[in-house]
Amino acid sequence: MSDQKPVILTCAQPTGGLTIGNYLGAIKNWATMIDAYECYFGIVDLHAITIDYTPAELRKNSLSCVAQYIACGLDPKKSNIFIQSHVTGHTELAWILACMTPLGELQRMTQFKDKTKQLNHESEDPTKRGSINSGLLIYPVLMAADILLYNADAVPVGADQKQHLELCRNLAQRFNQRFSETFTIPEPYLSEQGKRIMSLQDPSKKMSKSDQNQNATVFLLDDPKIIRKKIMGAVTDSSRTIEHSDDKPGLTNLINIYAAFSGESSETIVGRFQGKGYGDLKSELSDLIISKLEPVQKRYNELMVEPKYLESVLKEGAEVAQKRAFKMLRKIYKKSGFQARIQ
Ligand code: TYM
Repeated sequence: MSDQKPVILTCAQPTGGLTIGNYLGAIKNWATMIDAYECYFGIVDLHAITIDYTPAELRKNSLSCVAQYIACGLDPKKSNIFIQSHVTGHTELAWILACMTPLGELQRMTQFKDKTKQLNHESEDPTKRGSINSGLLIYPVLMAADILLYNADAVPVGADQKQHLELCRNLAQRFNQRFSETFTIPEPYLSEQGKRIMSLQDPSKKMSKSDQNQNATVFLLDDPKIIRKKIMGAVTDSSRTIEHSDDKPGLTNLINIYAAFSGESSETIVGRFQGKGYGDLKSELSDLIISKLEPVQKRYNELMVEPKYLESVLKEGAEVAQKRAFKMLRKIYKKSGFQARIQ
């Protein structure tokens, strides 16, 4: 891989199956950037333990996430796919950055506030209410470390990660000002279509892997019958006219999903469904999603019976990532005043 190419780094959490939100807002676009960039695609298992988890599930989800990445078109021959905990440096840099981050900046993060609220009010287990761990607060600092450790030029993400990226840019600037020019200031890269896919049951919330209501989220690996059931049952409104408008968030979300999967504009889709009902749109959208996910699911099933291949992808990915990370970490330690280790 040429050193001349700009670098992208981006990641997803292995907290469950990937959703069509992850696919349309992020992974589908990553695949289109593979030739023009030196790519680092992480599976952030250290982030995944900021919420309640079981070790066996985490291990299984991490390997499944690699297979889902490849099945979605991330070619491991042209990119580096790695697991965050396999690379030394992420948590070290996170500590240095944490010592430069005022507490208030973290407490103001929307995702922290939302997750805290969710854990406090929605937890089925009353003993878990109020037990917010400090990892959840420091989460965006670890995310900033993921990005800065590779000196990434661009970070392709969905709209929900924009605030975290802003914090990362501030931290990079703060470090550069205090210790001299070290980090590239990373640019967020958001796709126009699909950057904000909402819950099918509550279109005011983003579609999320960890939604308690399984009908709110379409997973990449959902069975076609389940996909149809979820889309047909998506919450809309009681009117009959097909329009893309803020007054119809449920319908608008379905049109956005349609547009992101088909590559058509929302106007074209609205035009095509004039005079037809919501049921027609939902039914065609189900067909479209099922047909787009069919090859992904087929490839995923082939990959999951080849764990040795998946492990070799991770081994290679971690080796390349580690080399880059160590180089950067040495520079960071030196600039921030740590005594060099005698070799
Ligand atoms: P995660 O695992 O929640 O999501 C992975 C990617 O999918 C995007 N995404 C969405 N896009 C549109 N609509 C949605 N409903 C939707 N849900 C998720 C996310 O924006 C993301 O791009 N904090 C990150 C993981 C992370 C990271 C990083 C990302 C850790 N370190 C460094 C980039 C760079 C997260 O929780 O992603």
